[in-house]
Amino acid sequence: MIKILAIESSCDETSAAIIRDGTVLSNLIANQTIHAEYGGVVPELASRSHQENIVPVVQSALSSANSTLQELHAIAVTLGPGLMGSLLVGVSFAKTLAYSLGIPLLAVNHMQAHILAHFAEDPKPKFPFLCLTVSGGHTQIVLVKNYLEMEVIGQTLDDAVGEAFDKGGKIFGLGYPAGPLIDKFAKLGSLTVKFPEPQIEGLNFSFSGVKTAVLYHVQKQVRFDPDYLKNNIHDLCASLQYTLVSILMNKLIKAANEFNITEIAIAGGVSANSHLRNELEMTGRKLGWKTYIPRFEYCTDNAAMIGIAGYYNYLAGNFSALDVTPQARMIL
Ligand code: KG4
Ligand code: ZN
Repeated sequence: MIKILAIESSCDETSAAIIRDGTVLSNLIANQTIHAEYGGVVPELASRSHQENIVPVVQSALSSANSTLQELHAIAVTLGPGLMGSLLVGVSFAKTLAYSLGIPLLAVNHMQAHILAHFAEDPKPKFPFLCLTVSGGHTQIVLVKNYLEMEVIGQTLDDAVGEAFDKGGKIFGLGYPAGPLIDKFAKLGSLTVKFPEPQIEGLNFSFSGVKTAVLYHVQKQVRFDPDYLKNNIHDLCASLQYTLVSILMNKLIKAANEFNITEIAIAGGVSANSHLRNELEMTGRKLGWKTYIPRFEYCTDNAAMIGIAGYYNYLAGNFSALDVTPQARMIL
């Protein structure tokens, strides 16, 4: 039996989880609400909140899994990518704990962990599968060959899709992060504005043009009608969401055809989006795919996924030295 304590602190969520033999026993998340008033994550504030939250969150993860520090076999932690000040808190804490308990450290790639969240529960995808990984910092199509062998076959050339949701929402006057609110409001509206979709060759994405189109559209309409945003917020959210999801799905279909793969997964914060989830299921039924969507709590940042990734690294003997340093940029 292998019991792992996992820690995630790459952005603005402090999370700890206990994983036993690849099964999640507990998964605690402390959200930082302080950033909402600034319209985005403030790195210095995030780092400070992680320092305040990390001990209570780890204690809660241990107690709700009925576990003690002495029972642990390893500590898994996000090494990157993410905000340096945020990563440092988790990594320093994990190193200290691993050293004092005399157990190995497992340094985990956050993007790999988003994908491996699929192995927290059944049904699990079969290798090789394609995973559309969509978050606030990344938009990638990944060919997943094995637990630890992954290849990025397409990615964004500019903004991440989560960023496009959040920046679009900011233009609409919504708070940060706007993604979940756009999802909610879109259900009350309909597709009334057709924002242009970029024509990018191959499997790469671009989202900065959509953001600019949204900005120009809103500026123009507000000039005619100062209440435009207030009176059209639901339709604007539905229209932006439709465009962003359409861009994602078109590339995913292209990738599935090119690689002749029908096991298709989504991961990352934006995979919580209900329209993307519906579109994936509908397209899957039409094209004969087997689709995999993680449970809601495993989509956005969480330590359970870090623990699952840690577990497969443990089985492969991928232990980290205690002088390992966080990496703001880290490739798969
Ligand atoms: O993976 P994640 O929790 O953190 C990063 O690693 O970035 O992703 C956060 C992103 C944010 O941009 C947020 O707006 C977006 O995921 N997001 C959503 C939804 N829930 C979270 N975007 C659209 N619809 C949602 N329901
Ligand atoms: Zn993430």
